[in-house]
Amino acid sequence: MEASAFCTLIHAIFYALFTLRVDASFVNITYVKSAVVEGAVCLDGSPPAYHLSPGFGSGVNNWLVQIEGGGWCNNISTCLARKYSRLGSSKQMAKQIAFSGILSNRQSFNPDFYKWNKVKVRYCDGSSFTGDVDRVNPVTKLHYRGARIWVAIMEDLLAKGMDRAENALLSGCSAGGLTSIIHCDNFRSLLPVSARVKCLSDAGFFINAKDITGAEHIKAYFNDVVTTHGSAKNLPSSCTTRLSPGMCFFPQYYAEKIQTPLFILNAAYDSWQIRNILAPGAADPHGTWHDCKLDIKQCSSSQLHMMQGFRIEFLHALAGIGNSSSRGLFINSCYSHCQSEMQETWFRYDSPMLGNKIIAEAVGDWFYMRSSFQKIDCPYPCNTSCKNNTFEANLGA
Ligand SMILES: *[C@@H]1O[C@H](CO)[C@@H](O)[C@H](O)[C@H]1NC(C)=O
Ligand SMILES: *[C@@H]1O[C@H](CO)[C@@H](O)[C@H](O)[C@H]1NC(C)=O
Ligand SMILES: *[C@@H]1O[C@H](CO)[C@@H](O)[C@H](O)[C@H]1NC(C)=O
Ligand SMILES: *[C@@H]1O[C@H](CO)[C@@H](O)[C@H](O)[C@H]1NC(C)=O
Ligand SMILES: *[C@@H]1O[C@H](CO)[C@@H](O)[C@H](O)[C@H]1NC(C)=O
Repeated sequence: MEASAFCTLIHAIFYALFTLRVDASFVNITYVKSAVVEGAVCLDGSPPAYHLSPGFGSGVNNWLVQIEGGGWCNNISTCLARKYSRLGSSKQMAKQIAFSGILSNRQSFNPDFYKWNKVKVRYCDGSSFTGDVDRVNPVTKLHYRGARIWVAIMEDLLAKGMDRAENALLSGCSAGGLTSIIHCDNFRSLLPVSARVKCLSDAGFFINAKDITGAEHIKAYFNDVVTTHGSAKNLPSSCTTRLSPGMCFFPQYYAEKIQTPLFILNAAYDSWQIRNILAPGAADPHGTWHDCKLDIKQCSSSQLHMMQGFRIEFLHALAGIGNSSSRGLFINSCYSHCQSEMQETWFRYDSPMLGNKIIAEAVGDWFYMRSSFQKIDCPYPCNTSCKNNTFEANLGA
């Protein structure tokens, strides 16, 4: 073993011994029972929920609102299946969850946001908080009410002091990262004019790309999501006046029009997008992508070639956020999905880097305007600081 590798190993062992036991704290759930009379309910009709870790010291008037992710449901069958899980019912949610990474309340894990009020909004509507269908089918008893949940949770948090916010960041991972783009300007409009309000999307920039067979798989899927949930009226009107509602689920078609400062944190080879947009199961009936989707190191050269093509398309779509200096960008060349809530990717000695900054530093500098940050990494496999996902289980979305 080389000396430097040995040092890294020793460093990692000491780090694990002294920090892992305390790198997350547990936060209780709050059910928003008053939302039920507004019909703002999870798929199964149960009340929506969040977890709140109160701010302290100079952070009492600062609010981080982090939206949980977890894909979508696109039709009655998939929404019925979801209804009996934590992603469709608050009855199934854990009553306490761990807060780590951007949600950590310790300075050594989360230097810029640790003192803030930190909220993790639970996801139980299957539409990235956009759905609103009044009628409830008497047979399925499914409620498509994501947009009402958004309103009800915001009202509840405003009443708990968010109406006095001085700094606020709407954030989220995956389907929650998409939520933080869709609702970014609305979030801004709810808070005092004098407040500094920004939005961060972690792994929420889903692109409209064809799959490996040339089919428009994700476009059809998003169209089904938006149709099933009656989302059209809750998607950005800057888009729905020009394009069909299904297209307006893709942030590339309206992000430029978002007025509020927005940071896009995303891997160019986002592992969810590779698995479900580029090479979904339906496009790979013989399972030739199976091993590659589990571990990027197992990809053949032709598969890597297609992934490089996906990266190019991703970067083209990303131009849709416009070039305002208020935009932040951290686009790394890792095979990963969601990097702000895991301590190892958010803020640790060996976290992914771009331009010698790790993600927590880049986001903190941009939020507090210490410096701008707009960086896109060179193509895979140029950067050794990645934490590439490897998957063991079967390929669920
Ligand atoms: C969280 O819930 C547990 C179990 O219900 C309770 O014992 C504990 O006091 C709660 N913690 C806070 C901070 O409210
Ligand atoms: C619902 O969507 C899933 C996933 O896309 C698909 O496999 C299934 O065939 C669809 N079911 C119906 C009834 O359309
Ligand atoms: C980007 O910046 C250039 C000038 O550098 C400007 O001409 C162009 O209109 C801008 N594009 C967008 C989409 O804002
Ligand atoms: C790749 O990672 C290193 C740290 O290992 C970082 O300093 C560098 O900036 C990254 N590459 C690019 C193109 O930014
Ligand atoms: C992830 O991939 C990069 C290549 O982009 C490689 O250098 C790095 O060692 C990998 N990370 C891990 C933890 O295996």
